[in-house]
Amino acid sequence: MRVLISESEIHARVQVLGAQLTEEYAGKPLTVLAVLTGSVVLLADLIRATKVPLRVALISASSYGGTRTTAGELSVNSSLVPDLRGRHVVVLDDIFDTGKTMFGLLETLKSFEPASVKTAVLLWKSERTEVQFEPDYYGFRIPNEFVVGYGLDYNDEFRHLPFVGIPDEEDLIAAAGESGID
Ligand code: IMP
Ligand code: MG
Repeated sequence: MRVLISESEIHARVQVLGAQLTEEYAGKPLTVLAVLTGSVVLLADLIRATKVPLRVALISASSYGGTRTTAGELSVNSSLVPDLRGRHVVVLDDIFDTGKTMFGLLETLKSFEPASVKTAVLLWKSERTEVQFEPDYYGFRIPNEFVVGYGLDYNDEFRHLPFVGIPDEEDLIAAAGESGID
């Protein structure tokens, strides 16, 4: 597997993102709403780099019927989301690809009537964006390559890697295992 972004590069960039959130949300009630499952590694590092009081909440989004890079029908499960009225929300995900996942999440969140909503992601595949907005905070713009690690998966594997890498064909075949995914 080729390393695209090293562990130390990620660490340094997450500290900068944390400093940005610290400045933006000083004196504002902040809830970091993490999108399961890809954002959990970033969540753990980013909240410790953010030096203002904050709450953590979880939401789940998955797309069915898609391929590994193309989202299918989006399904959002907001049953774990607490009351957000009056809270300033940062929706945190691993990657902003077409942006359709984030778009669907923002639509869902409207009914929670938060004071404000911004978006933050580790990676932004800016060439692929199909929505009329961009992430408010992002770690790295990356080219249109399929990546894994630091939360990002292929067939639910590779999330634990401390770096972001581009898997080669053998990595993908090994991870596909018995499920026989392409
Ligand atoms: P969207 O196109 O922005 O809606 O992203 C859809 C979902 O596809 C993301 O939440 C990721 O789970 C997944 N995804 C997109 N690109 C990659 C990638 O390069 N590696 C792993 N997952 C990806
Ligand atoms: Mg995901």
